[in-house]
Amino acid sequence: MAVISPSVSRVDIDLGERSYPIFIGPGLLDDAATWAGLPRAAAALIVSNTTVAPLYAERLERALAPHYKTVHRVALPDGEVHKDWQTLNLIFDALLEKGADRKTVLFALGGGVVGDMTGFAAASFMRGVPFVQVPTTLLSQVDSSVGGKTGINHPLGKNMVGAFYQPQRVVCDLGTLDTLPPRELSAGLAEIIKYGPIADMAFFDWVEANVEALVARDAAALTHAVRRSCEIKAWVVGQDERESGLRAILNFGHTFGHAIEAGMGYGEWLHGEAVGCGMVMAARLSERLGTVNAAFVQRLTALVERAGLPVRAPRLASDNVGRYLELMRVDKKAEAGEIRFVVIDPPGQARMTPAPDALVGEVIEASCG
Ligand code: NAD
Ligand code: GLY
Repeated sequence: MAVISPSVSRVDIDLGERSYPIFIGPGLLDDAATWAGLPRAAAALIVSNTTVAPLYAERLERALAPHYKTVHRVALPDGEVHKDWQTLNLIFDALLEKGADRKTVLFALGGGVVGDMTGFAAASFMRGVPFVQVPTTLLSQVDSSVGGKTGINHPLGKNMVGAFYQPQRVVCDLGTLDTLPPRELSAGLAEIIKYGPIADMAFFDWVEANVEALVARDAAALTHAVRRSCEIKAWVVGQDERESGLRAILNFGHTFGHAIEAGMGYGEWLHGEAVGCGMVMAARLSERLGTVNAAFVQRLTALVERAGLPVRAPRLASDNVGRYLELMRVDKKAEAGEIRFVVIDPPGQARMTPAPDALVGEVIEASCG
């Protein structure tokens, strides 16, 4: 592999023969060293969407040209609402129409939706072809591109169909964040905020002190936030790749959040917005269970708000609590219909626990505007 420049950070995911590097830095799309040493193949397919492809696909094509005889491209329709079977099939259509073989390498160029779908396509096409994550949203750089969770939504539940399948490499070009809309930047901050309460309160302190710099896209602040988030995620995934225990802590705020996303209709609330609000709800539940105090809930709520994220949950139905509970019962962490929540215990650590419906109902009612 060519030597990477000093402005580039490298974080390694340690998973034995499935280990891979995450490269983080500005201008990586155009840096030859980023692309050296990938699996050899006759062809590559760049999977992107109708928003991101016009911005960055040509640059990626140019970077890959020395490595593959042909570089194809497919642009999916944009949006969480398209994270489904029909759109997934467009990737298989492109692969088959272009005569792809078992060595063809897929490059996911886009946010978490493109990354999750491309990874799932790579996991299942010809029973598995290599893929590379090229995340272009803050959320996908700090979370979804790392760790090998891939998949699509089902109308009855978020991310219900998928596979664990690790990429060959993750390339986070921080320059791509320049074109990201502010609402999407805030959505990414939700997943950055998440890492503090579950694993590293010193990082939480740092995010508190630097959230305005992050919102203003200060390059040094973003570099640190992406790197530290990837380090924490690498540490968790390295211990529990397939979520038999510890990895579930990465779902802090997600049980409530997934209910908001599905209940409002996919795409209405951004994933990161739902996670931000969901973390506030999960912190309130932790407080009711006695594992954190009111001051912690207040601190987290203030930070989520400063990041530009909603802290008031939406009403989903006239039987509001009933609808939330119904949606949360199809969460992947539920066991025999019993919902399990990630609670903070104490700040800097997290664990899974069931909770009485009545208590959860109180949290939902207290959180809805
Ligand atoms: P997204 O993929 O929908 O991207 C957000 C929007 O930004 C889209 O409209 C996209 O086209 C646009 N965009 C992307 N990059 C851009 C750029 N550089 N400039 C301008 N516009 C750009 O959303 P997301 O927040 O990246 O990802 C959310 C998805 O990730 C959800 O489906 C969620 O379930 C999934 N997720 C997966 C994991 C995992 O571990 N696999 C973890 C967290 C989230
Ligand atoms: N985003 C949750 C996970 O990767 O496990």
